[in-house]
Parts: sequence; C-alpha cells; structure tokens
Amino acid sequence: MSNPSRDALIARLPKAELHLHIEGSLEPELLFALAQRNGVSIPFASVEAVRAAYSFSNLQDFLDIYYQGMSVLQTEQDFYDLTWAYLERAATDTVRHVEIFFDPQGHTERGLAFETVLDGIERALRDGEVKLGISYRLIMCFLRHLSEDAAFATLDQAMPHIDRIHGVGLDSSEVGHPPSKFQKVFAKARELGLHVTAHAGEEGPPEYVHEALDLLQVERIDHGNRALEDAALVRRIADEGLTLTVCPLSNLRLCVIKDIGQSPVRKMLDLGLKATVNSDDPAYFGGYINDNFRAIADALDLSEAEIVKLAENSFTGSFLPMADQIQHLAEITEVAGG
Ligand code: ADE
Ligand code: ZN
Repeated sequence: MSNPSRDALIARLPKAELHLHIEGSLEPELLFALAQRNGVSIPFASVEAVRAAYSFSNLQDFLDIYYQGMSVLQTEQDFYDLTWAYLERAATDTVRHVEIFFDPQGHTERGLAFETVLDGIERALRDGEVKLGISYRLIMCFLRHLSEDAAFATLDQAMPHIDRIHGVGLDSSEVGHPPSKFQKVFAKARELGLHVTAHAGEEGPPEYVHEALDLLQVERIDHGNRALEDAALVRRIADEGLTLTVCPLSNLRLCVIKDIGQSPVRKMLDLGLKATVNSDDPAYFGGYINDNFRAIADALDLSEAEIVKLAENSFTGSFLPMADQIQHLAEITEVAGG
C-alpha cells in the first residue's frame, strides 16, 4: 500500500545508482528526435508506437529492441544529450553519485569511433558533477554474446583512455555465455587496476554467480537474483559483504519475477545481504530509481529503516573512497533523522 511519509523519505534520501546502462536511459522522445536529427530510419511511426513495443517476455526480447534503439546514437553530441538527460532526471530523484555502464561494442560494431562514445558520455558526466553535484564512475561493459577476443579488442581501444574508465562489467545475453568465457580479459582488467563487476544470476543459474566470484573476482554482483537458490552461495555473499545491484522494475518487465512482490530485495534484506535498488534501463522498464524504491516499498511493505539501509548500501557498495562514503552516510542520517 502506498504510504505518503515513506514516499517522502524516498524522495528526500540521498542515494547512489550503481546499475544503470546509459543506453537504456534513451527515452522514446529523444530516440525520435535523434533519429530525425541524424536521418536514421526507425520502424516506429510515433513515440506511442515505440512505447507500445516495450513489452518483453525475457531478457533477449528486450536486448533486441535495446540494440536497435542504439542505432540513432551517432555523434559525440548525441551521447552527451543522452547522458545529460539521464543526469537531470537522476538529480530530481536526489541521486548524488552514479556508476554508469556503457556498451562500446554496441556502437563500434556500427562503425562509430570508441572516442565518440566515451567523449560524449564523459563530457556530460563532468558537467553533471559541476552543475548538478552528481559524482560519477564509468564502467565499460563487454557484451557477453560476443567473443572474448572481441572484448580484448575493446579493451585495446580503451587503452589510450584507460585513466577515464574506472571499471569493467559484463552484460547482454546471459544464458549460454558464462563468466568463465571472459576469465582472461577480466584478469587483464584487474591487472590494469580497474574495478570489476558482472551481471550474474539475472536469468543464469547460481553457478554463474560462483564463476563471477571465483573466476572474474568481481567486487559486486549485478542482479544476483538466482544466487538465492544456493544456500552456500548466500552465506558466502553475506560473509564477504558483497553488494548486489538489484533492479526491481527491470526484473518485473523482463519476467524474471511474476509480480513486484517477488522482488528478491525482501529476502536479501532478511538474509543480511547488501542489496541496492537501481533502475537498469529506465526508459524501457517504466521507472527511474525512486520509482523502483516506491514500487518495492509498497509491495514488500519496507520499513523506513529498511529504506534508509538500502540508501546506505548504495554508497557503501559504491567505488567511492571511504571518506566520501562517510560524508554521504552522514547526509543520510541527517535527512532520515530530520
Ligand atoms: N544490457 C542492458 N540491460 C541489461 C540487463 N538487464 N541484463 C543484461 N544486459 C543488459
Ligand atoms: Zn543491467
């Protein structure tokens, strides 16, 4: 049930977003505008037709449309506009820090230069830091349906700019593409001093989460829903204090769960796991971070203390230095107590 004082707390609480694909924040209105600006033809007659097409029965259904949507992104300014639109929206949800995924292979495969993508996204992130007070980290994802050689080629393209990239991730079609496929390229990324994270256990089995931890040595698990099927794995995630970046509305729209009341956040909190709440691909899944918070707060009847805990987890699970985390936690205490 909706609860006005809980909603007000969600609106006010400072938070970090740790699981956000910048290409998944491409709203139909901007998709249309960019298609026109760049003379790219898209198979939709109107913004409403685009929205109507956003009905998915699994991850692959969504990915097919997601990669198609990306085709309107052509110039550095397009990537700037995309990222800036997300940051402005995030600011209205009291987001103070973002750790953004981008999928360079979704663009370089279409002939764009790696630099076009990186420059546009980063320019907006820097403006966001100055004008909106939102700090950031940038995480380059490898598409797991492509080969490890292709991931190495992407890392090579990133090398001249590696000081501008903070971490690597692993996304796209999970089942059939286990983390083990990317063991060597993740080892190289770790050698370079990059942070490492991976999507695991969204549709894939608990074994993929084990692999992400053992073979890729990830610092966080993106999604991690199916880790709950394995009691030993749950104990390990709890003991090691690993962060799970859960995406409730994404889970619902990709049929990972049947209704929002099945969001794994309830169980994760009860088991003492460090769950966080994130929007994944908000333009496609019907909500930004506060929409995700409100949806589970209502469905799982979260207490105010649990909502505060989720906001705290978003900072302690981030790649921010400890001193910055402590400042954000102090602001949370001030807001929650006031
Ligand atoms: N790419 C964008 N969103 C994704 C998701 N939820 N899972 C895997 N790959 C993605
Ligand atoms: Zn994701």
